Amino acid sequence: MITAVQMRDRFAVVTGASSGIGAAVAERLAAHGVHLVLVARNAGKLEEEAARLSRRHGVTVHAVPLDLATADAPTRLAKTLADLGIEVEVLVNNAGVSTRGPVLDGDPARFRSVIDVNVTALTELTALLMPAMVARGHGAVVNIASTGAYTPAPYLAVYAATKAYVLSFTQALWAETRGTGVRVVEVSPGPTKTPMNSHGTRTAEAVASTVFRALSGNRPSVVDGCTNKLITSLFGKLMPRRFALAIARRVMARSGA
Ligand SMILES: NC(=O)c1ccc[n+]([C@@H]2O[C@H](COP(=O)([O-])OP(=O)(O)OC[C@H]3O[C@@H](n4cnc5c(N)ncnc54)[C@H](OP(=O)(O)O)[C@@H]3O)[C@@H](O)[C@H]2O)c1
Repeated sequence: MITAVQMRDRFAVVTGASSGIGAAVAERLAAHGVHLVLVARNAGKLEEEAARLSRRHGVTVHAVPLDLATADAPTRLAKTLADLGIEVEVLVNNAGVSTRGPVLDGDPARFRSVIDVNVTALTELTALLMPAMVARGHGAVVNIASTGAYTPAPYLAVYAATKAYVLSFTQALWAETRGTGVRVVEVSPGPTKTPMNSHGTRTAEAVASTVFRALSGNRPSVVDGCTNKLITSLFGKLMPRRFALAIARRVMARSGA
């Protein structure tokens, strides 16, 4: 576990911090006196957010515009952090993109960029930044997956598969690094109202609260919200996979995916 007091006056890196859940997590960390490095593609939005958080909470905030779908983005970010002399206490791998529709109608290049952001960048950033935390004996890595990680999702196939990777990877990493003093946790939001999902029922702020609670706990993975917990248990564990798939296919087809 890692407490708010342990994070205060240290640095957190939040990817995908320009909107939605990432912005809400950044706000929550800043409100607890945590300095920030915000990462996303939209430089203008990121600078605005950095200035606002710094003014409002009196913390240091660096905006680092980066496209995490590019191959060298994680190493460039690690170099920028080293050049700034920043020791990362908390890494929040939140940046994520989605793609909807039948796989056979999809654009292979788009599939690649979804995998690059959701899987490759998250994995590389963890591998680049976590060893220093382990060497110091404290820190935290939070990886944002999705309730879609718990069962394959027809018409959201690539997205859900990337999130299943995040869930599996983070749980394995949690087991590998127990006893190092570094908190590793995966957090799965369900439908949340953000620019990614205008039909979401949870708020980004509620998810940020779950992330905060997850940091101070010990479990390898946490699902946000009671309904989402119920749904992931039902679809991911209790229901036979072919029934879960048949229901998911029907629901997704009806939603116009
Ligand atoms: N909203 C939901 O219903 C929901 C449900 C389950 C899981 N999630 C997960 O929650 C996380 C946050 O999503 P959200 O709903 O808050 O979506 P969002 O508001 O669209 O935020 C996504 C963030 O990722 C950044 N991003 C996207 N592509 C990027 C790239 N190539 N390089 C760097 N940054 C990039 C975006 O900024 P730029 O566009 O400026 O790059 C933005 O800051 C994602 O991992 C998502 O999969 C969301």
